[in-house]
Amino acid sequence: MAKNKPSVIAVLSGDGIGPEVMQEAVKVLEIAGKRHNLKYELKFGFIGGAAYDRFGDPLPEKTKKLCLESDAVLLGSVGGSKWDNLPQEKRPETGGLLPLRKVMKLFANIRPLNFYEELTEISPLSSSVINKKVDLVTVRELAGGIYFSKPKYLSEDEGLDTMLYKKEEVRRIATVAFQLATRRKKLVTSVDKANVLNSSMLWRKIVNEVALEYPGIEIRHMYVDNAAMQLILNPHQFDVILTTNLFGDILSDESAAISGSLGMMPSVSLGDNTHLYEPAGGSAPDIAGKGIANPIAMILCISLMLDYTFGKTAAAKEISYSIEQIIKQGLRTPDIAMKNQKTVTTEEMGNAVCEFLIQMPI
Ligand code: IPM
Ligand code: MN
Repeated sequence: MAKNKPSVIAVLSGDGIGPEVMQEAVKVLEIAGKRHNLKYELKFGFIGGAAYDRFGDPLPEKTKKLCLESDAVLLGSVGGSKWDNLPQEKRPETGGLLPLRKVMKLFANIRPLNFYEELTEISPLSSSVINKKVDLVTVRELAGGIYFSKPKYLSEDEGLDTMLYKKEEVRRIATVAFQLATRRKKLVTSVDKANVLNSSMLWRKIVNEVALEYPGIEIRHMYVDNAAMQLILNPHQFDVILTTNLFGDILSDESAAISGSLGMMPSVSLGDNTHLYEPAGGSAPDIAGKGIANPIAMILCISLMLDYTFGKTAAAKEISYSIEQIIKQGLRTPDIAMKNQKTVTTEEMGNAVCEFLIQMPI
C-alpha cells in the first residue's frame, strides 16, 4: 500500500437483504473512517443473482479483478429462489460466492457469536442453559472439504461430492484456530466425524500435531453429532470451535441462533492476501426489500475489517460498543424483538449506531 494512496474497499452488496444492510454498514464505516483517519475509497461490484441478472454471470471477471486488487472486500449476501433452477455455474452460491472464495484463496472463515445479555430472553435456549454471556467463535475451513474436493458431479441418476482433506490444509486452519485461542479463553474444540470418516481421522491427527506447538492451549475433540447437541445443552463449554467446511457451515448457523437471530453474526475470511467480510446469515429473501432486516451482522463486519485488515482496533471496538449500547437502549429490528415490543427499521438501526458513534469521545 503506497503511503498516501487511499485503501480500496470493494463493496459487493449481492442479493436479498444484502443491499439494505450494506447501506447501513457503509454509513458506519464513513463515520469510523473519519474518526480514525482511515483514507479509503469504495469500489462497487456485482456478484450472485444481481450479477447474473445484469451480465449472465454470477461472478463477472470485473468483480474478480476488483476483489483481487482491493485491500478488503465487503460482501452482503448471495442467493434466492429466483436463481435456484439455473445450472450450477450460473447459480449465486456455486457460480458466485464459492468461486470467489477460491479465486481469493480464502481458507479460514472466522464467525464470532455476539451474544447480548439484554437479548437473553429471545434466545431459543432457556435461562437454565444460558446463565451468562455465551462467548464462542467458529473457525471454519473454507477452501477444501466436501465443498470443493474432486470428483464432483451430478447426472440424471447420481450426485457425487468428495470429502478430501490434505495434511497442509488441516495444518493451516488449525494454526488459525490455535492462534485465535491464545487471545481468548485458551481452549480449542476440534469438531470432526473421526469415528466414521477418513478425512476426519486425518484431521484429528494433524490437529493433535499442531496442538503440540501450543502447550498453553487445551485441545478437545468432539464428534459433530455430539457437538451439535452440546451447543444447545451447554454452549458455555466452548471457546474456539475448529472444524471443516461443511460442519462449520452448519454449526455456525446453530451458534448464531443461540444469540437469538442469524442477523447478528459477522464473519471474516482470511487467505494469503485480501480478506473478505460477510454476514454469516445469508440473503433472507423472505424479508428482502421490506426494510426490516437486521444490519448488525454487516455493521460488525466493518468492525472486523477495521481490526483485521486495517489494524484499527480502537475503531473496531467503538463500533461493537455502539451496537451493545443501542441494544441496551432497546432498539430492536423485528428478528430480535420480543412479542409486542416496538421495532425499528434497518435504516433506523443503522442511524442509531451512527449517532451513538458520532457522540463518543475520541
Ligand atoms: C455461508 C453460506 C454459504 C456456504 C452458501 C451461500 C454458499 O451458507 O456462508 O455460510 O455454504 O458457505
Ligand atoms: Mn451457511
